Amino acid sequence: MFADRTGWSLASNAISRRLQALRERGIQVLDLTESNPTKVGIRYPEGLLAPLSDPRSLLYEPSAQGLRSAREAVASLCASSGVRPNPDQVLLTASTSEAYSHLFRLLADPGDSVLVPAPSYPLFQYLADLNDVEPIRYPLRYEGGWRIGLEALERSVRKGTKAVVLIHPNNPTGSCVTSQELDRIVRICRRERLALISDEVFAPYLYKAAGAEGGEIPPSLAGDPEVLAFTLGGISKSLGLPQMKLAWILVTGPADLVQPALGRLELILDTYLSVATPVQGALSRWLEFAPAIQSQIRRRLIRNRRLLTDRLTGGEAVCLEADGGWNGVLRVPGIQDEEEWVLRLLEEERLLLHPGYFFDFEEPGHLVISLLPPPEVFEEGVTRLLRRVRASPRPS
Ligand SMILES: Cc1ncc(COP(=O)(O)O)c(C=O)c1O
Repeated sequence: MFADRTGWSLASNAISRRLQALRERGIQVLDLTESNPTKVGIRYPEGLLAPLSDPRSLLYEPSAQGLRSAREAVASLCASSGVRPNPDQVLLTASTSEAYSHLFRLLADPGDSVLVPAPSYPLFQYLADLNDVEPIRYPLRYEGGWRIGLEALERSVRKGTKAVVLIHPNNPTGSCVTSQELDRIVRICRRERLALISDEVFAPYLYKAAGAEGGEIPPSLAGDPEVLAFTLGGISKSLGLPQMKLAWILVTGPADLVQPALGRLELILDTYLSVATPVQGALSRWLEFAPAIQSQIRRRLIRNRRLLTDRLTGGEAVCLEADGGWNGVLRVPGIQDEEEWVLRLLEEERLLLHPGYFFDFEEPGHLVISLLPPPEVFEEGVTRLLRRVRASPRPS
């Protein structure tokens, strides 16, 4: 009855089953995997919802690319990260995930491949399956900081490889692509005629430089005149509003590729018209709230991360270096079996963390911890985690 591409195992994993069982018994679990910004006590500015009631939204004037006012707002936003696009190069989608789907449809035929980083966030496998594309993983390796395995990336290119996905900063490693890495990847893209897909949804959340009040925005990876590049952003992260469903694709590169890419994408978008009019109409005003929302989230991330590193004094676990993002990665040498560890944390400490294998780490021994929870929740979670880590035998 069903297509092979949807032949996934639908059974829940052992961690979700254990969590469910605890919740059914009325047991409270501290959730240090929370990635939903609307559930962690961020104060959204008063008046945020007002633009949704603009009477102009009562008129439906479908536009495949998205409302001009919203695309102009995105184009000026891009200017602050070093690119100066024309609003015609901006297209709106309901989410970044949807944007990936459209791009895979645009670029790849069934069986073609795209290069994606590992570790990275788990949705890629499903997005690739749904679009009949093979995700080929290229490694990010930790050497006191995260480095892209450029040789491995280059070796992975084969006939039918259509694009390189860069995530800047990446989730969960929090690592930005360096300019040397970008130079090399751009050269590979030019030589092999690959498109670049640069996911920059976490770009507003860097830890260093100007700090929480005005965290430096890393230069966008878009803008090489010779490579067709699609830069992704969206309000689920930049405004902490995942429920509003609005993201964008910026298309840059050589005009003879940008124009047909825009034309084809327009037809894909016209087939769905999935972005709600009131949300598009609200975007330019919402972006004025960005500093107020981003600074709260950034302060939270920096504070929680500092708490975590301050508490890790005994060498039993290390918080890996990162440039930004909403997650932290812990390397715990005592962990051989990540799943067993997460299950024990649930059972014995009533604490939920992600095992590294969810994110495709090459080696075991990693836990992924969300930096978004309110400080008191985070602090209590870290206390419970370290109690368990310290009680566990270190490998000999
Ligand atoms: C790197 C990255 N890109 C995109 C997304 C999805 O964003 P959206 O809510 O716009 O689909 C996620 C979700 O966590 C993510 O980690």
